[in-house]
Amino acid sequence: MPELASRAHLQNIVPVVDAAVKKAGVQLQDVDAIAFTQSPGLIGALLVGAGFAKSLSLALGKPLIAVHHMQAHVMANLINPPLPEFPFLCLTVSGGHTQIVQCQSPYDMKVIGETIDDAAGEAFDKTAKLIGLPYPGGPLIDQYAALGNPQAFSFPEPKVDGLNFSFSGLKTSILYFLQNAGKSNVYKEAFTATEEEKKQFIQTHLADICASVQHRIIHILLNKLQKASQQTGIKTICIAGGVSANRGLRNELTRLGGQLNWKVFIPPFEYCTDNAAMIAITAHYKYLQNDFVKEDVVPMARAEW
Ligand code: KG4
Ligand code: ZN
Repeated sequence: MPELASRAHLQNIVPVVDAAVKKAGVQLQDVDAIAFTQSPGLIGALLVGAGFAKSLSLALGKPLIAVHHMQAHVMANLINPPLPEFPFLCLTVSGGHTQIVQCQSPYDMKVIGETIDDAAGEAFDKTAKLIGLPYPGGPLIDQYAALGNPQAFSFPEPKVDGLNFSFSGLKTSILYFLQNAGKSNVYKEAFTATEEEKKQFIQTHLADICASVQHRIIHILLNKLQKASQQTGIKTICIAGGVSANRGLRNELTRLGGQLNWKVFIPPFEYCTDNAAMIAITAHYKYLQNDFVKEDVVPMARAEW
C-alpha cells in the first residue's frame, strides 16, 4: 500500500536517523556526505527520503549523493572483508529484480542478464500466496523447505535464451499443480481437485511443496549463473538481494562453487535484504570520485543504472 508506506517513512525517518547516528557514536556534523536512494522503488517513499536528504545536506553544508538501489545491493559485497576482487559476477535476487551483473570495478558494472517477467523474490512470494502463507513468503518457504524433500515434486525449467530469466511459467505450473492436488502440473488435465482436497493436499505436503519449488527456483538461478561464468570467464561470484538470504540458495551456491573452482562471496544476512549500509558503501565509492548531485535531483520509480 504505497500511501501507507509513504506515511510510515514520514513518521520514521527522523527517529531512524537519530538512532543511527547515536548507534554509530557520531554527530551529524561529523559525516562527510549525505546519501539517499534515488531509484527504483515506490515513488512516495523515495520522495520522503530524497526530500529529507536534500534538507539535511543543505542544513549541514554537506555534499549530496544519489544511489541506485540495485547497484547498492551488489555493493553490499564490499562492506565486510574478505572482499571479492574485481572482476566479479553478482547474482542480484530481490523482490523486484533478478539480475546477473558483470562488475569490472566499482564504477563499471553492467547488467548482462535479467528477468523478462517475474523476479525470483516474486516467485517465492506468489508461491507462498498460492499455498496460503503470508507476505513476504520467501523466508517462510525457506523454513518449510528445510524440512522437506526437494525431489518430491518436479516443476519445469523455463526455456529462455541467453542469460535472461523467466519465472512466470513456474508460477502457473504451481497453480495448476495445486488445482490438481499434486496429480499433474497441466491445466485441467484429468483431475481437478475440490477446494477441500486442495487444502488437504497442501496441509499434508507443505514441506515437500516448499522444498520442491525452492529447488526449481535455485536451479533456474544457478544454471544461468554458471552460463554467465562460462561466457565471461569470471570465476569470482557474489550474490545479493533479499533472496540471497535463502539458505538453500546459499548452500547450493557454495556446493556448486566448490565443484567449479569459483571464489564465492555471500554477504551476511543483514546485508542481503534491504539495508542502509549498502547505500552508504555505494556512496563511499561515489564520494571518492566527487560524484555529487544538486538539490534539483529527482527520485524515480524506475531507472536504468
Ligand atoms: O532485496 P529485498 O529485501 O527487497 C527488494 O528490494 O525487493 O528482497 C525482498 C524479497 C522478498 O521477495 C522476500 O520474499 C525475499 O526477498 N526473501 C527471501 C528470503 N528472505 C527474503 N526469499 C527466499 N528465502 C529467504 N530466506
Ligand atoms: Zn532491495
